[in-house]
This record gives sequence, C-alpha cells and structure tokens, in this order.
Amino acid sequence: MTVLSMKGVVAGYGGGAVLQGVDLDCAERTVTCIVGPNGAGKSTVLRVISGLLRPSAGEISMDGEAIGGRAPDEVLRRGIAQVPQSHALFPAMSVHENILMGGYLIRKDRRLLRERLDMVRDRVPIVAERAGDSAGNLSGGQRRMVEIARCLMLDPRLILLDEPSLGLDPRSLAGVAALIQELNRAGTTVLLVEQNVRLGLGLATHGVVMEGGRVRLSDTAEKVRDHPEIASLYLGGTTAPSGSTRAPAG
Ligand SMILES: Nc1ncnc2c1ncn2[C@@H]1O[C@H](COP(=O)(O)OP(=O)(O)OP(=O)(O)O)[C@@H](O)[C@H]1O
Ligand SMILES: [Mg+2]
Repeated sequence: MTVLSMKGVVAGYGGGAVLQGVDLDCAERTVTCIVGPNGAGKSTVLRVISGLLRPSAGEISMDGEAIGGRAPDEVLRRGIAQVPQSHALFPAMSVHENILMGGYLIRKDRRLLRERLDMVRDRVPIVAERAGDSAGNLSGGQRRMVEIARCLMLDPRLILLDEPSLGLDPRSLAGVAALIQELNRAGTTVLLVEQNVRLGLGLATHGVVMEGGRVRLSDTAEKVRDHPEIASLYLGGTTAPSGSTRAPAG
C-alpha cells in the first residue's frame, strides 16, 4: 500500500522551479533514501511534503488524500513528521522537556501523552537515561537521537529525515542508523535524504537518485547501489567496471 505519492510536483523559491516534475512513491513500511549531488532538490522534496513549501503544480497525497499545499501543522496531524536538520533542540531545556514539546499537539490528552512518553522512552533509551540533563550538554549523536525521539511523540506514519548522519562520528552514526531501522521494524515508513550514500542506501529498502530537480533513477536500494553509474559517482567506483570511474559529483 502506498503511503505517500508525489506526481509531477513542481516547486521552487520564487526564482524559477527547483523541482521540475518529481514523481515519488513510498510504500508502507519501506525506507526510501534520496541521494544526489548538492543542489539536486533533495531537501526541497522534504520541504514540499511537510508543507513548508507550496508546490506550483503536481499532486502530493498521503494515504490517497491530497495534501499538496496544506499548512505544516495539518500535514503533521495527518501523520507526517519531519526531523529538522541539526540544532533543532532547545539547548537550555532538559531532554524530557524537549520530548514534551514534541507532544504539544496532544498535550490535552494526558493519557495519550503518558502512553507516548512510555513508548518513546522504550524505543530510545537515552530519553530516560538523560531525562534531566540539558539538551545542550549532549553529544552530537545523542542530540540526533533525541531529535528523532521528539518527533515520535506524534507516532507518525511517515517520518522525514534530512541527512541524519550529518556531523556524526562513526559510532553515533551506527546508533542513529540502528534507530531508523528499529522504527521501520515497528511499522513507520521512512523517507530520508543522505549524503552518506553508502549508509543511506545500506539501511534503505528503496533508493531514489535526484539530479537537477528530477528523479533520475528509482529502484530497490540494492539495484541503485549496484547501478554502475551510481557506484562510480558516489561509492568510489567499487562495483563499477574498471576504467569507468569518474570524479565525485559536488
Ligand atoms: N530557501 C531557499 N531560497 C532560495 N533558493 C533555495 C532555497 N533553498 C534551496 N534553494 C535552492 O534550491 C536548489 C535545491 O536546493 P536543495 O536544498 O533542495 O538541494 P539539496 O539536494 O538538498 O542539496 P544539498 O545536498 O546541498 O543539501 C538549490 O539550487 C538551492 O540553491
Ligand atoms: Mg539538502
């Protein structure tokens, strides 16, 4: 079953279209990873889905219902949560307070709030372990885990992540990747953008390659990873036939 569907989506920032007719589908319980050079429009795809940017043409639907052009809070209520790029936590507030902010939309339902808190603590142990510490005192990797945990308070159907690995050391990276896979096992559909192509396609079920505001390739993560051009462009030519290596993009 398709959770999210984009058809012919055109969007930009005023000075012409950045997305030039994007088609993209996320099936239920899949992890889709978008890769591509800088400026390809990857983050713009996430912004247009979460309602931060209005499409000028095309259709976006969630569970078959049109959501294109809806306000961000409405998109959120429909079960799409975006984990913003780094520095999204309130550094002077405790980890617990930051997590509570994620439950703002359900704050009036004390029982649901309590249930969600328990679920989040259960899935992301650092939320309980560091509950009273200021978010500003966490390491980069710990912050990223709390950022993801915070958006779980709304129990999203679809979670959008823009470069979750950015700035993380290898150990934190492994922790964040494991958390994403664990969320997916628990039933959440994931759409992420990753510069770390090896990591992103490694944890994804599906891969999408963007270039110049269009989707160039869309297939299973394995096929995208093994595609000769992708291998030579992004993965150091490991699986490409000899003599076909090119300089990395971007
Ligand atoms: N707020 C903005 N205002 C104007 N132009 C923007 C804005 N954000 C992005 N752009 C432009 O839109 C194009 C696509 O940007 P986008 O951020 O979607 O690319 P990206 O694929 O995420 O790149 P990166 O890998 O560098 O994050 C770029 O040419 C960029 O300069
Ligand atoms: Mg980006």
